[in-house]
Formats: sequence, C-alpha cells, structure tokens
Amino acid sequence: MRRIDCIEPFRVMQLLERAKELESTGRKIVHMEIGEPDFLTPHSVIEAAKSHLDNGDQFYTPSTGAPELQQALSQWYRDEYGVTIDSKRILITPGTSGAFSLIYAVLLEAGESVLLSDPGYPCQRNFIRLAGGTPVNVPVGPESRYHLSSDLVQQRWQTETRAAVVINPGNPTGTLIKPDELKRIASACREREGYLISDEIYHGLTYGIEPPCALQFNNSAIVVNGFSKRWAMTGWRIGWIIVPETLIDACRRVMQNIFIAAPTLSQYAAITALKEKAAVESMRLAYNERRQFLLRELPKLGFEIVVEPQGAFYIYANVAKLTDDSHSFCWKLLEERGVAITPGEDFGAYQSDRHVRFSYATGMDELREGVRRISAL
Ligand SMILES: Cc1ncc(COP(=O)(O)O)c(C=O)c1O
Repeated sequence: MRRIDCIEPFRVMQLLERAKELESTGRKIVHMEIGEPDFLTPHSVIEAAKSHLDNGDQFYTPSTGAPELQQALSQWYRDEYGVTIDSKRILITPGTSGAFSLIYAVLLEAGESVLLSDPGYPCQRNFIRLAGGTPVNVPVGPESRYHLSSDLVQQRWQTETRAAVVINPGNPTGTLIKPDELKRIASACREREGYLISDEIYHGLTYGIEPPCALQFNNSAIVVNGFSKRWAMTGWRIGWIIVPETLIDACRRVMQNIFIAAPTLSQYAAITALKEKAAVESMRLAYNERRQFLLRELPKLGFEIVVEPQGAFYIYANVAKLTDDSHSFCWKLLEERGVAITPGEDFGAYQSDRHVRFSYATGMDELREGVRRISAL
C-alpha cells in the first residue's frame, strides 16, 4: 500500500460537518466533541502581539526559534519543574503538530517502529506513517490508567523500536500516569537505547495534581509541548520540542527545509504568555468546575467513568450499559438530540465500540443543556 493510503481521516470531522449542516437549518447543537479551548487567548498576549506587529516584527526568526523565546522557556522549565535545560535544546515549532512531524522525520528509517497507547491521540499514528515508520498500537485499559506502563514498554519493545510515546495527561482519557510509573517507563526506554517521547501539551490543565516533566526522570527524553491548550492559543500555531543535544543539528536541518521557522508574531506573543498566570489559572478553574459537573452527572445517565480524569478537558466513558456500538450511538445522539460527542473509534481500535469521549472545552450552560438532552434519549 502507498504511504498516503495509510493516512486515516479524523472521523469526528464527519460528525462535525453533519453538526454544522444541522445548525445551518436552524437547529441548536451542543458541542462536546471538540478538543479546543472555548476561551479567548489572554488579553496580555494579544496586546503583546499587536505591539510586535507595530514594531515590524514580521521577519523569519532562526529556524530553531527566536532566541528570546528559547531562553524564556528555559527559565520557565527552571521555575515550573526545577530542571535546567540549555535553551539551544528547546526548538520552536508550528504547534506541537509541527514538533511531531519534525521528530519522526529525524528519528525514523523505513520499518522502524514507535510504541503508542490505544486509545491515544490519533494524529500520532499518522505522523509516524508519513515518516515511513510503523506505529505499534498497544491496547491499554483502566489497569494502567489508559497509559503505556513500563511492563508494556518492555514486553512490546522490538529491535526496530525507536521510541515510546506517552501523552500525560492523556487524550482521550484525561488520566495521568503515576510519577513512579513514568520514571520506570523513562528507565525502560533508556535501557533499550531508545527515546521516551512525552507529549505534555495538557500540563497546567490538571486538577489537584501536578505531573512531573519527563525530563526530571530522563535527561534525554524528548518533550513536546505547546501554547494551544493551557494558553488557549490554538490558531497561533506555536509549540516547542526539547531534544537531546545530539539531535539538535539534525532537527535544525529538517526545520530549515520544512518550516523555515515557526510564525514570528506567535513566537513573540508566546514570551508574554509564559508570564501570564492569572488568566491561565482562571481557565483552569473553569475547566475543573465543568469536569466536576460531568463527573457527577454522566454516571447517572449510564456513562461509566472507570478512572477519574484529573487533567486535560476530556472524559472517556464506557458506554457498555447503553450500547455495543458507540459509533451509531454518537450519530443517533447527534441526529435525535443535537448533542455531539466523539466515538471511541477515533482514538484506536481497542474496545473503541464501547467508549466515547466528552470534551468540556465548552461553557457550563452548554454542558447543562447537553446533559438534559442526553437524559431524554
Ligand atoms: C495530545 C495532543 N497532542 C498534540 C495536539 C496538537 O496540538 P497543536 O498542534 O495545536 O499544538 C493535540 C490537539 O488536540 C493533542 O490533543
């Protein structure tokens, strides 16, 4: 099969298109399918961007990023996690998506593989395939909090395996890996001379617990993060990746060719975002209120939440009491009740027909209305 034929569409987009179609006929749809903050980017960040625009900051930065942002991130890691990282190791990318296309292009030769959790963030598999690699989807369930564990990494690692990916907190599950387990996974990857790739895009959106950065356990872990979620900056397309010194030159060469550089205005605005604490905290508190509401209400409607999600803005619910076909269930919910949620199939194959994902990146009124409509199904 040609490589492009292996790239799957994001299936929820079809559901979203249908939701839009229904809205164009005047129906009100409750959106709990989209994983995008409903908040506006903090005011201070917008103001900073405006003044940089007025100053003529429109030119390419170095490919690896504006040194001021690299240094601000290095300081941020010191303050946030107590880790010291040379700013040259922090590469600025167009979103974390840019970081993933970069790192798999650098790491993978044809036939080499990467371990991923199933369920997991679906784009990962496709980034790996595009780079000519093979994604190895490892089924995970509540026993490992829906994450790869060190045992699974050890069992599934093959000679051609280059890396294992963790997303902590997880998408679609919102669950966190226990710090000790993350430490063991980091050691397992190091012992095999492979990489731990840690997607930390939902750090800062956790409730009652603060996860460690993978670099606290393994200095050669590859950490990916970005401004889309915590700082509500999806459309600014700005993220970063921290790589070991030995990979910087290869990354730079790929970046020069495929991006030239991340968007300049977004890079400068991101420096201000790192200083913005109040707006970020108020968004986090709002998400937590929504999370608590759904954790209370969804089980009453038959959605089983086996592991309490403590991060991101997702709830992964088992719908076995309601259906054995979550795909049809989600379509029926949309058509009959005007509520959009995401079927498990978007995140993998393992028990996907028995799971759905709720996103609470939408306001309390919407969530209350969604719950009311589902209860009438
Ligand atoms: C786990 C995870 N990683 C990465 C991304 C991509 O984010 P972006 O490219 O906007 O930084 C997303 C977006 O939903 C995500 O959920």
